[in-house]
Amino acid sequence: MKREIGFTLNGEAVRLEVEDQWTLLYLLREVLEMTGTKEGCGYGECGACTVIIDGKAINSCLYPAMEAEGRAITTIEGLVSKDGELHPLQTAFINEGAVQCGFCTPGMIMSAKALLDANDKPTEEEIKDAVAGNLCRCTGYVKIIDAIKSAAGGR
Ligand code: FES
Ligand code: FES
Repeated sequence: MKREIGFTLNGEAVRLEVEDQWTLLYLLREVLEMTGTKEGCGYGECGACTVIIDGKAINSCLYPAMEAEGRAITTIEGLVSKDGELHPLQTAFINEGAVQCGFCTPGMIMSAKALLDANDKPTEEEIKDAVAGNLCRCTGYVKIIDAIKSAAGGR
């Protein structure tokens, strides 16, 4: 069954009809063509699909699209400023060598952003906890943790 919903996506109001079986990940990638958010496992295990909903990092593959009604959603596309400048987390990931294949990177950065928005001086443990649900097959995590520390001004 279809229903019209409205929400904010990267600061812009969106209204559209969604099917009740759609996930938010499907809505973002297949309907809105915002492919920065990645689909890895599709069942809540890898974090590649992480977006921020009302300030919290959420696996969009498990989140029903209908539940987006009235919410504020941020995806990786929303991090670049209007004049094209990268977010400090994006710059830090590049500078620290925390991106290899890049598949985990959008989700990793969204988890890190939700953390830093709530706590701008996290401890290493808090950083590790924040990205514990984000799997990376390439980097061994050390550079990712370093990049998040660096974006938080801790290095
Ligand atoms: S695709 Fe959502 S957690 Fe893996
Ligand atoms: S950089 Fe390849 S999975 Fe993380």
